[in-house]
Amino acid sequence: MNPPLLVATRGWDAETWAKRLRAELPGREILATGRDGLFAGADAALAGVHYVLVWKPPQTTLDRLPALRVIFSLGAGVDHIFALPRLPNVPVARIVDPDLTQRMTEHVVWQCLDHLRLGATYRRQQRAHQWRDVEPPAAREVTVGIMGLGVMGNDAAAALTRLGFNVRGWARTRRTIPGVDCFAGAAELDAFLGGTDILVSLLPLTPETRHLVDLALLKKLRRGDPLGGPIFINAGRGGTHVEAAIVTALRDGTLAGASLDVFEEEPLSPESPLWDFDNVAITPHVAAVSDPVALARQISRQIAAFERGEALSNCVDPERGY
Ligand code: NDP
Ligand code: OXD
Repeated sequence: MNPPLLVATRGWDAETWAKRLRAELPGREILATGRDGLFAGADAALAGVHYVLVWKPPQTTLDRLPALRVIFSLGAGVDHIFALPRLPNVPVARIVDPDLTQRMTEHVVWQCLDHLRLGATYRRQQRAHQWRDVEPPAAREVTVGIMGLGVMGNDAAAALTRLGFNVRGWARTRRTIPGVDCFAGAAELDAFLGGTDILVSLLPLTPETRHLVDLALLKKLRRGDPLGGPIFINAGRGGTHVEAAIVTALRDGTLAGASLDVFEEEPLSPESPLWDFDNVAITPHVAAVSDPVALARQISRQIAAFERGEALSNCVDPERGY
């Protein structure tokens, strides 16, 4: 019998994933937790589990897996795993999948175009039954600066370049991307920000990126641009920005608008002032949703390769935290 697998997800329905995996991995026992990430069965059922597929797993669930070989993150981000106080000494592999990447690019393009084409202004005018044309700038007059030039950042940069935006990017190490001005590391951050009209964050949450986007950083974005001020789009992780700073920046005009998919605390509190700005688009962490059909296939291939003694793909460096 093939070693069993556990799907342990908090907030997501683990059974939906388990069903897909049973179709992909016939002959293997696939166990699932409840929506609280906890497994209701006895320890004996978990004793032989080699693989756990997780989203925000509780520590107590991982503590019950003595034979664990690999942790698979069901998201591209792995901060939900590294936030745990104790991790077993096994590799952590994350999702890198064209379906997920495509969804993120759609989200980033959607939000950049909405700001470019003055979506908030026209929605405001519509509510007031106002017929008034306001000339939007051309994409070539606007520079989008992407923080994080990994899998997601690269793909979004290519799509935005094709649409005619000027695109620049910033990463920890030097990247080379055709048609994109690339900046690297803390030493080049200010230069990157100084030429950016729409700042897009696709950064992972790590100790280095936590609260990176604060008021001081937002004040370094280019001013007097064709959109009436800088725009901030975050679809990476909410912990990389300071929410209070974004509110201040929207109130004092440092920012002319924002699109936020991720938040320091999720779900975003109903009391948050962010809900009430008409130049802010709020989405509930859905920029790129992990699709069980696409991703179960990828994980089953990873398991098959691992059991043939081949190296796992997309393993995370625990030192870097992404
Ligand atoms: P990657 O690991 O491929 O890319 C991460 C990028 O961030 C790399 O370019 C990396 O630099 C850069 N980076 C990391 N730390 C720093 C730092 N301290 N300073 C500057 N740059 C840094 O990740 P993905 O592109 O696959 O995903 C990015 C994030 O998107 C995920 O971690 C996740 O949090 C988020 N996400 C959000 C979703 C949503 O629905 N909202 C869905 C999917 C993902 P370098 O190139 O030098 O390594
Ligand atoms: C992810 C996410 O990391 O959904 O994939 O945020």
